[in-house]
Amino acid sequence: MEVRQFSYSSDNLGYLIYGTDHAVAIDPGAPDEMIAFAKARGVTIEIVTNTHSHYDHVQGNREMLGQTGAKFLDCSALKERKFIEIDGERLLVFHTPGHMDDCLSFKADHRLITGDTLFNGTVGNSFSEDLEGFFRSIKLLTSFPGESLIYAGHDYVRASMAFARTIEPDNPDIDAYLDKYDSGHVVSTLADEFKVNPYLRFNHPTLVAAMAKHGLPVATEYERWCSVMEFY
Ligand SMILES: [Fe+2]
Repeated sequence: MEVRQFSYSSDNLGYLIYGTDHAVAIDPGAPDEMIAFAKARGVTIEIVTNTHSHYDHVQGNREMLGQTGAKFLDCSALKERKFIEIDGERLLVFHTPGHMDDCLSFKADHRLITGDTLFNGTVGNSFSEDLEGFFRSIKLLTSFPGESLIYAGHDYVRASMAFARTIEPDNPDIDAYLDKYDSGHVVSTLADEFKVNPYLRFNHPTLVAAMAKHGLPVATEYERWCSVMEFY
């Protein structure tokens, strides 16, 4: 299974997951580019779906479905499914609520399509107000091996690293992370996320001390997660 990233609008990212003959389009905001790519690779786009139902992620669905005749899998229905089969391989589907209740993440081998749940350098806003669900989602996504690749729903790398620097100005990994940044192919490893992403660093002594200093609860991991989400 291969993964191809497509950027659209100002900072959105959509994906084509493809095998030898077939492809799944996720958040197809760049339908023309996706269709041209699929054609060049000789693969048929047979399924269209989304990481969640926010407008900027579903805006390309109609055009993509109209041009390809692909089948639409609604993300709120898809959360009950465990996988989508592509040419005999499994694209795994995980319900990862928190940003919205209908958020999904996908796993294609070692590549994670995380939508607006986990970004390169930050996490999504908790519009669902379900911080407990969001915590479980983040724990799930971060349970995969460190070399797993994070393919997110937006490119917020520069802004998120500028913010991370305000929290940890002496963190040398921020520069290393930015050195690897390529706006033409936005990706990071889970291991690198743990080095710089403040919202995955709620167990790090620097952040725990800062939150405790402000009187925020830090006794348990869940408390530290809530504190990092509320404080920063
Ligand atoms: Fe969103």
